[in-house]
Amino acid sequence: MIRVIFTDGHISGSGYCSMKKEQVANCQFSVWYPIFKKHTIKSQILPLPQNVIDYLLDDGTLVVSGSDHSTQPTHTNSYNSDAEEDVQWSDDETTTTVTAPEFPEFTSKVLEAINALGGCVFPKLNWSAPRDANWIALNSSLECRSLSEIFLLFKSSDFITHDLTQPFLQCSDQDSPDPVISYELVLRKWSELIPGGEFRCFVKENKLIAISQRDYTQYYQHILTQEQNISHAIQDFFSQHIQYHFLDEDFVFDVYRDSQGRVWLIDLNPFGEVTDSLLFRWDELTSGGEAAQQLQQDGPAFRYTMSEVTVQPSPCLSYRIPRDFVDLSTGEDAYKLIDFLKLKKNQQEESEEEEEGNAPP
Ligand SMILES: Nc1ncnc2c1ncn2[C@@H]1O[C@H](COP(=O)(O)OP(=O)(O)OP(=O)(O)O)[C@@H](O)[C@H]1O
Ligand SMILES: [Mg+2]
Repeated sequence: MIRVIFTDGHISGSGYCSMKKEQVANCQFSVWYPIFKKHTIKSQILPLPQNVIDYLLDDGTLVVSGSDHSTQPTHTNSYNSDAEEDVQWSDDETTTTVTAPEFPEFTSKVLEAINALGGCVFPKLNWSAPRDANWIALNSSLECRSLSEIFLLFKSSDFITHDLTQPFLQCSDQDSPDPVISYELVLRKWSELIPGGEFRCFVKENKLIAISQRDYTQYYQHILTQEQNISHAIQDFFSQHIQYHFLDEDFVFDVYRDSQGRVWLIDLNPFGEVTDSLLFRWDELTSGGEAAQQLQQDGPAFRYTMSEVTVQPSPCLSYRIPRDFVDLSTGEDAYKLIDFLKLKKNQQEESEEEEEGNAPP
């Protein structure tokens, strides 16, 4: 597994949370999807066989034999052109050939689901998408057309590893037994969501107390000018379709407001620090109810980035390797590769000259 590990709020906690294991279990995709199916993106859920889970957690092998592409004639990704070959890795001392395991039955189920969803999907596990791994995909996107693309993202993602290994890490009831989890591959129809239309909504005791712009690193003028409309549309959506329908009274839901003003449910998340509070702080949302009550005096508090000045670096940035490495490794920018090799050669020559210069007479 290629892994660049940096921590962020996603896997650290500082103690405001009283989130229970049961609440986390309730936020699994397969729990909420049947309840809110009409209001969210069309999706399919496939049980993950144990040997696939083992493969995803196995650090030794990367990706992938390409036999799952045979029914995908429209696929243009260059990643697949040599797909029938084994993946070869070499270093100075040894050359190792890694043959990826194959899962023919699972592969054909996945392909069938992808086709039924229009050919392009957004993949998730029970809770998380591999958002921290999109840099490794050739198109830098989570858009997948095959199981090998899904595996590449999943095997490179700490968020996916977190789902598989420690989903209850931040729960307050550590002494109680973990709920039994059946792991699932979630395939969602790929939809081009405009980041400025995404909002995260915090629900405490079945009241919508706060709404945050989801992509808070950017300033979107339309949010400033349509603040009232957006807030009302989300409040209406909540009271008509979400409130009292979910298994918990505390939760966080994500929505998308499309260009026609229609609101869609994107995801449900636990009410606690495992979920990014974006433009709020968890202590504001939870502290003894007082701050939370203040927030909702006149309807939910609505926070968004007010101007270009406050724009912040993108939160997944720390998960990326430098763009130059990506270009080099994928051969996307041939000139960069040539420059890199020239640089290396110059460096070598310089150090050779230095060595010669320093040599004893
Ligand atoms: N079906 C889809 N097609 C294309 N993009 C999507 C789709 N679903 C979600 N996205 C994009 O991916 C982002 C992350 O999706 P999602 O919230 O499901 O992942 P997550 O792992 O639960 O994230 P978080 O950890 O923030 O809760 C969304 O904000 C949206 O921009
Ligand atoms: Mg989520």
